[in-house]
Amino acid sequence: MGIGNRKLISILFTCIGRRVSLLNSFRRAARQLKINASFLGTDTTELSSALQLCDRSFLVKPVAHSGYIKQLLTIVKTNKIKLLVPTVDLDLKLLAQNKAKFAAMGCCVLVSPPEVVDICQDKRKTYSFLVKNGFDTPLTMSVRAALSKKKLNWPCFLKPWDGYASRGNAAVSNRKELLFFAKRIPNCIVQEFIKGAEHTCDVYVDLCLKARCVVPRKRIEVRAGEVSKGRVVKHPRIMSEAARLVEKLGAGPGIITLQLFLTDDDKVKFIEINPRFGGGVPLSIKAGANFPKWILRELLASKVNIRFDGFKDNLVMLRYDGEVWLEDANARRAGK
Ligand SMILES: Nc1ncnc2c1ncn2[C@@H]1O[C@H](COP(=O)(O)OP(=O)(O)O)[C@@H](O)[C@H]1O
Ligand SMILES: [Mg+2]
Repeated sequence: MGIGNRKLISILFTCIGRRVSLLNSFRRAARQLKINASFLGTDTTELSSALQLCDRSFLVKPVAHSGYIKQLLTIVKTNKIKLLVPTVDLDLKLLAQNKAKFAAMGCCVLVSPPEVVDICQDKRKTYSFLVKNGFDTPLTMSVRAALSKKKLNWPCFLKPWDGYASRGNAAVSNRKELLFFAKRIPNCIVQEFIKGAEHTCDVYVDLCLKARCVVPRKRIEVRAGEVSKGRVVKHPRIMSEAARLVEKLGAGPGIITLQLFLTDDDKVKFIEINPRFGGGVPLSIKAGANFPKWILRELLASKVNIRFDGFKDNLVMLRYDGEVWLEDANARRAGK
């Protein structure tokens, strides 16, 4: 018998965009658990593939609008949402700050505490956190500090401290280039350039903030900041360091996505913490780390003791574009 007693459970994904695979993995998990679940999504436009595939969809104002949270609270209340899953960085801070309001309506928001989101969304703070807690990470400094140094190792990596999706990044080979790009990259910081194999870890954190499963995957190819080809790499030191990092940070519940380099001399250097589902998570789920199933089980059966490293090593994901078709009335409305 399923744990859901066939009662309808509603789950809401915010800013759902193109997360079709994530939505489908939750649908599959609900079927496996024999839960009668309904999947709802929000976006700012009807031209969103995943939104079209939800059982109910809601067009909302952009995250920056002052009424953003109020809209979500209304959706949660009217539809008796039990679980809210953010999918992008945009609304994490607001959701974290307002988590108690959702909880008061019986809705669990899969988001980290506000101070954790704050550390993750400011790469200067991420750096301080990593250094303070003994994690290896590239040396990071302000543009001014870099320019005042007598000796800098070239190349250097420039990026905004509040960046996302690899926007505004540049590798520079001398002071002239540094000056040129630093003027053009808003909120620019300077980082030691790291050579090595880039990896992402999907870390499953339970409702008690214990890291239960870490799946490292090598980024073989990236398109527009999101992995398009990846391979699962069961690397014990990456796994233990990632679990330690997430627990030290107090991140979760839900999935925390870590980015790191494995250098040629075998060092694990963390570069970014994204406190949400990463775009490449379908690979970890397919490898056997059934995060959606664990999340739903935890939601319904309070305590679940999962510690899992039985996922399939070396599984490769090669992504391609899929299509969603809109006809007649829907199409006319959406294409306006
Ligand atoms: N210090 C670095 N050395 C070399 N490459 C880097 C460094 N920092 C970031 N990168 C590259 O830039 C990409 C984006 O950087 P990241 O810190 O993840 O910021 P965001 O994803 O928020 O744009 C990374 O996936 C990595 O390929
Ligand atoms: Mg990144």
